[in-house]
Amino acid sequence: KDPASSQEGPLPLSLCMNLDDIEMSACRIMSRRAVTFITSAADSLASLTQNRKDWSKLTFRPRVLRDVTRADMTCHVLGKKSRLPFFIAPMGMAKIANDEGELALVRGAVANDIPYCVSGYSSIRHADLIACQKEVGGGGILWYQLYVSKSGCETTRQMVRSARDLGYEALFITVDVPVVGKREEDERYKAELDYAAGHFSQSSSGEGAPVLRGMHSYTLSWSDLSYIREEWGPSSGPVVLKGIQSAEDAKMAADLGFDGIYLSNHGGRQLDYAPSSMKTLLEIRRFCPEILDKVQVFVDGGVRRGTDIVKALCLGATAVGVGRPFNYGIALNGVEGCNKVVQLLSDEIQTTMRLLGATELGQLGPEMVNSTILENRLPQ
Ligand code: FNR
Repeated sequence: KDPASSQEGPLPLSLCMNLDDIEMSACRIMSRRAVTFITSAADSLASLTQNRKDWSKLTFRPRVLRDVTRADMTCHVLGKKSRLPFFIAPMGMAKIANDEGELALVRGAVANDIPYCVSGYSSIRHADLIACQKEVGGGGILWYQLYVSKSGCETTRQMVRSARDLGYEALFITVDVPVVGKREEDERYKAELDYAAGHFSQSSSGEGAPVLRGMHSYTLSWSDLSYIREEWGPSSGPVVLKGIQSAEDAKMAADLGFDGIYLSNHGGRQLDYAPSSMKTLLEIRRFCPEILDKVQVFVDGGVRRGTDIVKALCLGATAVGVGRPFNYGIALNGVEGCNKVVQLLSDEIQTTMRLLGATELGQLGPEMVNSTILENRLPQ
């Protein structure tokens, strides 16, 4: 009998061959609450599904007969050197996946010398995360992700100040959550708990009217960003806008002097039918390609393969964010699970580079992907 498929429990990490194995295995052991929170996405899951599909639409144009003994994956990101061209995307409440929560992700980021963008909704105190980074040798790169609170500008200023004083190296402002998307699995779970407890609330999503879900500022506008930047200070490190989903907003961010734009539809958790980051990147290449020389570009959503990461780099991304797989990794085995996700992706990137005929990331360009798609944009 097949030893792996006959198991009911989690696969040992050594039998996980890719990120899908890690997800499948983690979902066997996580609580329903954790699975629901991590996997859930908005409405009909159209963006969630499309995120993965869009990566698969792009094909490669490899070059052969090149010496590919070397395959250097070093990447320069926001003024720092990262060993690999991907990073851990911000995800709140990592303790839901593993008791060590964000500490496991900090340890993994340091061990692998990659950036980790820590969520403003970390389940571990930020001071403890920075202390942990130092304890384990100080490598890695920690960025802070900010949600602008609806409690007002002073609360936001305080969060920014404290992130800056702790020594986070960059500020990522998430701009795609004026309200929280309608994540039906989350709502079903809460409603079932309420129902079982005999509470029949009108709004299963907590305080306020259901259409204004969440704790974020729904008045946040371009002009508010200046007080946030001012509080962070000009010499505290780069500032990036996370959640850009159109060429117009990308251009606006570049014109306003932001250091980076992070193309993302929040892993399909916010606006359903929002474009994948790859679609937005293609839109930028078509309508305002000049901004690719002005700002660094981050993308995420549905990235599950080294080939996805290489495709993004060919299209002009600086680095690629990976979200849920890191939660699944730590759910399976804390920092070891995080390391396994990094190792699988890095092996896949290296093999992809060699098969494409590239020995360093600077050699990846649009000529290495199928030009029909570049010209016509993605098939619908
Ligand atoms: C997120 N995401 C997110 N984004 C953010 O800016 N701040 C946050 O606190 C969170 N929290 C969060 C929790 C969980 C459980 C998930 C799955 C996602 C979005 C995240 O940064 C990223 O954009 C997506 O997760 C990328 O998609 P994949 O890789 O999960 O498909």
